[in-house]
Amino acid sequence: MKFFADTAEIEDIKKLQESGLLDGITTNPSLIAKSGRDFKEVIKEICGIVPGPVSAEVASTDFDTMIKEADVLRKLADNVVVKLPLTVDGLKACKVLTSEGTKTNVTLCFSANQALLAAKVGATYISPFIGRLDDINLEGMQLIRDIRQIYDNYAFSTEILAASIRTPNHITEAALAGADVATIPPAVIFKLADHPLTKSGLEQFVKDWKGTGQSIL
Ligand code: E4P
Repeated sequence: MKFFADTAEIEDIKKLQESGLLDGITTNPSLIAKSGRDFKEVIKEICGIVPGPVSAEVASTDFDTMIKEADVLRKLADNVVVKLPLTVDGLKACKVLTSEGTKTNVTLCFSANQALLAAKVGATYISPFIGRLDDINLEGMQLIRDIRQIYDNYAFSTEILAASIRTPNHITEAALAGADVATIPPAVIFKLADHPLTKSGLEQFVKDWKGTGQSIL
């Protein structure tokens, strides 16, 4: 499973890149607004840090303007993935961009039918939002399972990018359901390594090793 960080915060991105755990980045207009940075500048900076795919989302909602914005975004860096909303205009833009060899991420997916449409227009990634479905008392993870089944039935190559991840449990469940990628808030990625038994076990090992008076170096 590939790990993307769902953030536009440069310091977090640098830390994750150094950890060797990072395969890519996703951003959205809300994350850009939160960063307080200029959109194009911050995307260029992220692309300079992370060699993997970096999703940058169009801001418009009509086909013609989406295509114009996508053209600006894909020129920012070679690893930019153009993120498009799951609407008829967004799907139409996805088809055109895919035919031109541009990588795409179709976002705001909340149903298996929407995911089917994204695969039919050749999206590189489909982003089902797990947490937001859970928020309204639906089972976000079932959507990942359904999409996995549908994509496998027809051998679609669109990658399932589990989005709106809120907890470490979401990662385990998305991995079990066969998501290709998870895009995760940095704080949740760091939490994945935590376990109280690892912590206490290591403390004991360090203490016992000191007691031997030995040194490996
Ligand atoms: C995905 O690409 C989105 O940026 C993101 O995962 C949305 O997550 P949220 O529901 O926590 O805002």
